[in-house]
Amino acid sequence: MKKKNIILIGFMGVGKGTVARGLVKSSDMFAIDTDDLIESMENRKIKKIFAQEGEPYFRALEKKTALWLEQSVNNTIISTGGGFYKQENIKNIGTVVYLKSSFQGILDRINAAPNAANKLRKRPLLQNLDEAIKLYDSRVPQYEEVADIVVDVEKKPLENIVEEILGQI
Ligand code: S3P
Repeated sequence: MKKKNIILIGFMGVGKGTVARGLVKSSDMFAIDTDDLIESMENRKIKKIFAQEGEPYFRALEKKTALWLEQSVNNTIISTGGGFYKQENIKNIGTVVYLKSSFQGILDRINAAPNAANKLRKRPLLQNLDEAIKLYDSRVPQYEEVADIVVDVEKKPLENIVEEILGQI
């Protein structure tokens, strides 16, 4: 049977988790988040995994997660970490939706959140803004390439984003 999953990809802080929750409310689908799965597998936060084991170890966990998702998950909205789009089997997991925003739009969104400091602190790859912009610029074309659907989410109400995604899958 063809998998009916939606995989949300995009840069850190763009709102993948928020959109996943919106999609769940407006559909009969379930939700799962790759960072949550990894934290639960490891019984430690992403920040700690990066600090104690380094990034390659984290990427290996993402790969393991991607294989598991392909085998085991159906009818589910999958929100992902910003680097998960690199998984070779991502297209076998489901329909890939890229949530697109400018870098400034992402920073504005993070800064508008009541827990902005924590949103920044918990993300190892957002600690240095110059490095983060470089990472953003290098990833944007790759996100576009892997996506089945691209949705511009900048300054858009959640209901409209959800409607747009459900109308296109
Ligand atoms: C990462 C994004 C993070 C998390 C890890 C690495 C990345 O997830 O997976 O810190 O490489 O962009 P969010 O996109 O939810 O911040």
